[in-house]
Amino acid sequence: MKKDLLGISDLSRDEIYLILDTTEAMREIGQRPIKKVPTLRGKTVVNLFYEPSTRTRTSFEIAEKRLSADTLNVAVSASSVLKGETLLDTALNIEAMTPDMIVMRHASSGACHLLAQVCKSRIINAGDGMHEHPTQALLDAFTIREHKGRIEGLKVAIVGDLLHSRVLRSNVLLLTKLGADVWLSGPPTMIPVGIERLGVHVSTSVDEAVADADVIMMLRIQQERMQGAFFPSLREYFQVFGMTVARVAHARPDVIIMHPGPMNRGVEIASEVADGPYSVILEQVANGVAVRMAVLYLLAGGQEGD
Ligand code: CP
Repeated sequence: MKKDLLGISDLSRDEIYLILDTTEAMREIGQRPIKKVPTLRGKTVVNLFYEPSTRTRTSFEIAEKRLSADTLNVAVSASSVLKGETLLDTALNIEAMTPDMIVMRHASSGACHLLAQVCKSRIINAGDGMHEHPTQALLDAFTIREHKGRIEGLKVAIVGDLLHSRVLRSNVLLLTKLGADVWLSGPPTMIPVGIERLGVHVSTSVDEAVADADVIMMLRIQQERMQGAFFPSLREYFQVFGMTVARVAHARPDVIIMHPGPMNRGVEIASEVADGPYSVILEQVANGVAVRMAVLYLLAGGQEGD
């Protein structure tokens, strides 16, 4: 395995399948009465989150504890970052305490790559700016494969704020590597220039993207990253791009509906769809723990701790 997990762009098909297969074994641990194994005993993992997170931070911490690692959450809002310390200095000071791994989320694209260059600790990207969110794409792929038995040949429609989404980038890289037929749809102002070069179809018609889809993946409108008006109003956005029961009817009868969270109900997705029979949104969250256990285990060398 590589030293770090920085993005799906660094992973081969075989490495992706290795992580997905290892996730199957890790999930079994979570179904036991005592959900703990000694695999990472004696290893120290630091969770360094510069941006808010519910699912990713919590599931990494649960995964680390299930593998018996010593875990530490750095509360950035209570750290010397507020006194002006740079990311590099913070990282080097944490590194001086010799953790084995650092899980980091940061608002700047490339921040995890910077850490990986200066730290001996293994770096796991928990989302960097608008760049990548590799463990989200891996848990999404695991959830799709669980429901459909495969990824190759599936029609996957990804709808929403394509421009600001690291989840989109990681999913496009992963799904195209594994042979899915990926369709993207969103407002013209939110379609990244040249995205077709990644081997995806692009349409401003949600109905075209969703037609006969096996999987619909909705993306959050990321108002905190927007500078300027990308569409007239949230109400109009929902009318044109929101996922409604009527739109889902264009997909295959066994379609699954996904969303990485957090959701804006009534903006990108109707509550009837988010909570409806095709939704696998909470399964994605559950699978996030097992995927992160697999990543931690494989980066530690795939061996039991001392
Ligand atoms: N999907 C995701 O990254 O959610 P959080 O921001 O809550 O971690």
